[in-house]
Amino acid sequence: MAEDLTILREADKEAKYQSLIPQIRGLMFGEKNLIANLANISAALKEGMGFFWIGFYLVDSEDELVLGPFQGPVACTRIKKGRGVCGSSWQRNEVLIVPNVDEFPGHIACASASKSEIVLPLQKGGEVIGVLDVDSDQLNDFDETDKIYLKQIIDLLFVG
Ligand code: SME
Repeated sequence: MAEDLTILREADKEAKYQSLIPQIRGLMFGEKNLIANLANISAALKEGMGFFWIGFYLVDSEDELVLGPFQGPVACTRIKKGRGVCGSSWQRNEVLIVPNVDEFPGHIACASASKSEIVLPLQKGGEVIGVLDVDSDQLNDFDETDKIYLKQIIDLLFVG
């Protein structure tokens, strides 16, 4: 199968997500390897949504996340449970939308250009196995639309 994405450059956020979801499903079809699928989700969302930074942190031990597949500037490799937006999302098992990272207590600044952020826990069999982290270089860039569609995308990982 050809692996080119169709990108709706002029469309609004919702239309972009709606166009990407079946394409991401196609990219993962028949592939069970988690790292391969996280890598393609990262690339598809980076290219398709134009995110500044998008990637995964995976649970590496009972109190630490380690950097997984991502697209964007280099990032911190390890995050403790309860630290920063990612460690908090993991600990609380909750989606966190942060309109201004400077106002989030304990935010970990991997890139100084990062201004707002959304983090979603990645659940498998009722357990959090990592988080999806998306950073923007604009303030207040994430909302319920991102939450809904990013959740749909990570839910594609463990179906079937
Ligand atoms: N800002 C995140 C750390 C990861 S980077 O943004 C890629 C946090 O506070 O958890």
